[in-house]
Amino acid sequence: MSIKQILFLIVFINFVSFGRTDKFPDNFLFGVATSAYQIEGAWNQSGKGESMWDWFTHNFPERIQDTSNADIACDSYNRYEEDVSFLKDLNVSFYRFSISWPRIFPNGQNNRVNWEGVNYYIAVFKLLKEFNIEPVVTLYHWDLPQPLNNLGGWTNPLLVDYFANYVRFCYEQFGQYVKYWITLNEPQTTCINGYSSTEFAPGYNIKGLGFYYCAYVHLLAHARAYHIYKDEFYETQQGKVSIDLTMRWMEPLNKSDESHVLAAERTLQFTMGLYGHPLYLGDWPQIVKDNVDKRSELQGYARSRLPKFTSEQIDFIKGTNDYFALNYYTSNLVYPTHDITEDLNETSYGKDMGVSLSIDSSWPSSTSSWLYNVPYGLRSMINWVAEQYDNPEIFILENGFADLHTLDDYDRINYLNGHLCHTLRAINEDKRTVIGYALWSLMDNFEWSDGYEQSFGIIAVDFSSVNLTRTVRASYEWYKNLIESRTIDC
Ligand code: NOJ
Repeated sequence: MSIKQILFLIVFINFVSFGRTDKFPDNFLFGVATSAYQIEGAWNQSGKGESMWDWFTHNFPERIQDTSNADIACDSYNRYEEDVSFLKDLNVSFYRFSISWPRIFPNGQNNRVNWEGVNYYIAVFKLLKEFNIEPVVTLYHWDLPQPLNNLGGWTNPLLVDYFANYVRFCYEQFGQYVKYWITLNEPQTTCINGYSSTEFAPGYNIKGLGFYYCAYVHLLAHARAYHIYKDEFYETQQGKVSIDLTMRWMEPLNKSDESHVLAAERTLQFTMGLYGHPLYLGDWPQIVKDNVDKRSELQGYARSRLPKFTSEQIDFIKGTNDYFALNYYTSNLVYPTHDITEDLNETSYGKDMGVSLSIDSSWPSSTSSWLYNVPYGLRSMINWVAEQYDNPEIFILENGFADLHTLDDYDRINYLNGHLCHTLRAINEDKRTVIGYALWSLMDNFEWSDGYEQSFGIIAVDFSSVNLTRTVRASYEWYKNLIESRTIDC
């Protein structure tokens, strides 16, 4: 090889592996995401009813890091015009936000409609339409009407009927504006933090049971909402319906140890597979059935702690995801801890998996205890979903970073850049169908049990100022440039 050829090769390799500029496909959608309880405020204004997060934060303030609540939050209910003006300036193709169920039905039921609430959302839809911004609408982002929480919330199958009435009303009132519906947001998170721990509302720590019954009721409610849309609205509205699922990527602690590889896969099945399998393949994953049934039996229960789907329910749920709404934030290392026939005195989903989670000390941390910057995990997650469920259309509907409260949020930019590069690799190199990306979040907001201590916004909100002043961060400008150029340095 001549010197010239060698030099060319060095330049070429450098170009391929470093400092490469990549372009997103022309039809790739860029957006930002928020949710009603986290930004709207106006918790008891204009006829809104109490939600379970209102109840939870008012009654158990000590469960929230800074003892705060979202009574006012960003006051987006009264300041939505300003917020939409940022969307316009960013030039996003879509805005993902949620409808507050108790703002529409104050007691959760369709015998009392709060028309002020309905008109509020219609005003938001109209404004978005004026600016050509597609609404991507979550029907439920954790703010359950409190009267329904009093019935046991998502462990009570009656919720399926109540949810059906609520979504039918939303399709009727808002359907003309919406092409992408999301029925339920991240049931995995609430089923773990709210029904198997006291960290999130409602704080029902039903060990070894809440995790599964909550998943069961969510899946039935989702499927019901899906069928209502398809049977009664699809012909005129032509939209798509999905449930939003989240997962940390699970990496074996020791990749050359088969038991670690199996532990990581088992964890994915218990968390993402618990929802993905019923939706795409029918019924719970086999490993979930095997482990929970076995342990329940060894624990002396006559019936498994895992609820069983009837064959009608299996058919009813299967095939009810028009696109795969995926949230990804971070990863874990996984290793096996015990055989499932051991440690029988404890009923918990963790013990049913027989694993423990840790992190790699080389992963850059965020200000939040659970969030590390692991961009390749997103690509791995996309590939796992694609392989398990026969290449569905994937829409990334949340990804974001908790950074310092300053305006120079370079760690956030670094995180976003890495995750978008890995998304592009999944599209270009792995040939996966990823249609868009929503950054969490448009602005700082109420971060559940972390209150206002964690900031996820590309717009800073000064919660101590009377006007809740919004100021754009460096990441906002970075994202705006990315949307304009559609290119990224990877
Ligand atoms: C997922 C949730 O959907 C959202 O509400 C939350 O703020 C983000 N994760 C960050 O934790």
